[in-house]
Amino acid sequence: MAKSRKGIVLAGGSGTRLHPCTSSISKQLLPVFDKPMIYYPLSVLMLGGMREILVISTPRDLPRFKELLGDGSAFGVEFTFAEQANPEGLPQAFTIGEEFLAGSPSCLVLGDNLFYGARLSESVKSAAAAQGGTLFAYHVSDVRAYGVIEMDDAGQVLSLEEKPPHPRSGHAVPGIYFFDERAPKFAAGLKPSKRGETEILELARCYLDEGSLRAEKFGRGTAWLDTGTAESLLDAASFVHAIQSRQGLMIACLEEIAFHQGWLSKDQLAARANSLGKSFYGQYLRRIAE
Ligand code: DAU
Repeated sequence: MAKSRKGIVLAGGSGTRLHPCTSSISKQLLPVFDKPMIYYPLSVLMLGGMREILVISTPRDLPRFKELLGDGSAFGVEFTFAEQANPEGLPQAFTIGEEFLAGSPSCLVLGDNLFYGARLSESVKSAAAAQGGTLFAYHVSDVRAYGVIEMDDAGQVLSLEEKPPHPRSGHAVPGIYFFDERAPKFAAGLKPSKRGETEILELARCYLDEGSLRAEKFGRGTAWLDTGTAESLLDAASFVHAIQSRQGLMIACLEEIAFHQGWLSKDQLAARANSLGKSFYGQYLRRIAE
């Protein structure tokens, strides 16, 4: 039987663009409106059905992530934690995660990427069920700050470039990547780029070169938000607030997702709500449990 796909959240880095906010705490622990940033990428893995999740962060910050997330039982999942001593590139997530993956296919999501939208669960589930590698493509107003993907009308990937000064398309590659069990091996063979890090698009190129890379577009109905600067962080928080207060439903409430997946019982949900006291988040969980 094929091994089930495992999730990895990469939540390291120095967060220098958000100093002084991140001088003493990880960027991915900062709040995006009413919950820590890392909840958002975690919610995507859980919506995709992944219950075994590796959280990677710096030696300084990892204890705080452990304190926040615990062993995962509060969310119906299982967390493993690993250190990234230096931010030497996104593909390092797979070499650090090799033992955790133990030959399973994986999905890597960056701890500072926020996704939300109508067809998100289906897109993630279909990528999780696919072979080889899967990237997503998302139209942004200025693509030069991202990895850029060029595709033909049939969805075939034509080119991949990291932060090109003259982009060949308007589509960025969001920070969510699906690879088969060979990702750690491919990652180990990568050389650092000019910016001194190994590049995730070079890992994707290993799949492209052998014809096993697919890409899917996230349409207009999907939001992909960045939290790299103080301004984009505020925009992300405003977005979450606007949607949640209109709908009365939460974005990235991990316990709610676990409950709907059948990973937490009503009683477990109620107990979790009680442990969160009078917070808005706790009250919301109480409502779901009732
Ligand atoms: O956000 C999507 C973009 O993320 C993609 O479009 C690019 O192709 C991809 O290279 C990446 O670009 P960035 O320039 O945004 O990567 P950055 O170095 O800022 O790292 C992204 C996050 O991952 C950030 O929160 C820090 C964390 N990180 C980064 C590196 C290089 C780590 O935890 N460890 C690392 O080694």
